[in-house]
Amino acid sequence: MGKRKTAFCCQQCGYDSPKWLGRCPGCGAWNTMVEETVRTEPVRGGTGGLAGGRPPVPIAEVEVADMPRFATGSGELDRVLGGGIIPGSMVLIVGDPGVGKSSLTLKNCAYVAKHSGKVLYVTGEESVRQVRLRADRLAAIDDQLYVLSETNLEVIEQQTMKMNPKLLVIDSIQTMFRPELSSAPGSVSQVRESAVQLLRLAKNNAVAIFVVGHVTKDGALAGPRVLEHIVDTVLYFEGERNAQFRVLRAVKNRFGSTNEIGLFEMRSEGLLDVPDASKLFLSERPMAVPGSVVIPTVEGTRPLLVEIQALVSDSPFMPPRRTADYVDIKRIQLLLAVLEKRVGMLLGTSDVYVKIAGGIKVDEPAVDLGLILALASSFRNRRTAANTVLVGEVGLAGEVRAVSQVEVRLREAAKMGFSRMILPKGNLKNLPDGGSIALVGVETVAEALEAGLE
Ligand SMILES: Nc1ncnc2c1ncn2[C@@H]1O[C@H](COP(=O)(O)OP(=O)(O)OP(=O)(O)O)[C@@H](O)[C@H]1O
Ligand SMILES: [Mg+2]
Ligand SMILES: [Zn+2]
Repeated sequence: MGKRKTAFCCQQCGYDSPKWLGRCPGCGAWNTMVEETVRTEPVRGGTGGLAGGRPPVPIAEVEVADMPRFATGSGELDRVLGGGIIPGSMVLIVGDPGVGKSSLTLKNCAYVAKHSGKVLYVTGEESVRQVRLRADRLAAIDDQLYVLSETNLEVIEQQTMKMNPKLLVIDSIQTMFRPELSSAPGSVSQVRESAVQLLRLAKNNAVAIFVVGHVTKDGALAGPRVLEHIVDTVLYFEGERNAQFRVLRAVKNRFGSTNEIGLFEMRSEGLLDVPDASKLFLSERPMAVPGSVVIPTVEGTRPLLVEIQALVSDSPFMPPRRTADYVDIKRIQLLLAVLEKRVGMLLGTSDVYVKIAGGIKVDEPAVDLGLILALASSFRNRRTAANTVLVGEVGLAGEVRAVSQVEVRLREAAKMGFSRMILPKGNLKNLPDGGSIALVGVETVAEALEAGLE
């Protein structure tokens, strides 16, 4: 074991310093430096790397063992991972309390156990009985799925070596500790050192590891940020507790794209994949109501049709209220200004409410035109054109700018039975034709409103 000394470590970003500082130079936070034990010498005979002291090898001679990816049982999770789990990889799944991290991982553990080999699920937060109850609810029981309630990483490592599972789940990293460090579980040095130990375990034994991490708004626990550099893949699990949908988003992936998202629906029997999201998002759409617009948005390579709802009404307040759910309020304010200035709509005394139905966040500029049409439709109390979708970025001069991936959007709209698309004229020249969809190219917001309102 290495020699010990202490350092002051920012609990938010992991910056360390030999002396106490009021303000962290790393992230600028105040009063986040806490004294922690750090190791000064690397463990295991002087090599901290994964090679175990072996000499360099020519890259052409590196043996690539045939280790195909294995499926998680969730098409959505597989897609976000880049096509399944890679043996020996380490995946961090981060999310707010109660978002469903344990449910997601446990369910997939049972599938892997059934189809690929032994799985060890280590919980530091719950008793094995609690895990069993959840497993019953999720129908996640399998002979090859083992549960261990433990927080000491030494023990976890020993058990893992003995069992040699295909997949190891650590729920959560903030509860784990290495006994040779004196700082508390959840502190930056414990979290970081625990992750390093797990990484070594993953690489040396070809066991895939899922690590669950918490995010806390006040930074009371060590933020999982320090982990992001260590692991291979970082997935954020998002969604408000009472929203129907959960979104799994890759923010780092050494084995795949980071643009992909996975969609899940929260049900009592657990999280279910949502492969056909557009259908679900549009299923409760009110027909023929002013203020409702459908737009084809793209997340990664995945097109999604979502409904924008706007409500513009006379305000008893001064200044009037503006709220936006699942879309940036600043974007709404900008678009309101464009409508006032370029189209002459006097919105200054109106309350404005905008939301994306279904609770999925959209933040690409291509949704501008849809937002503008929804606002104008509600303000003028005129319905939007039937069977029509629209895309386009809106500039400050009221011009409509070209957007990316129009073909993908077009295909999704056609699949969902729409027959008309309003889009930037600039996109038309690269589009041969819209197939079953009539294309209406526009250059200005005024033209778009003309084409989009009944
Ligand atoms: N008995 C139940 N029936 C239906 N849904 C439940 C039940 N128990 C929990 N849930 C749902 O599962 C969610 C919690 O899932 P889970 O425990 O997997 O989340 P978590 O992210 O692991 O939370 P934590 O941060 O507390 O570990 C709850 O928000 C709730 O919606
Ligand atoms: Mg949990
Ligand atoms: Zn900091």
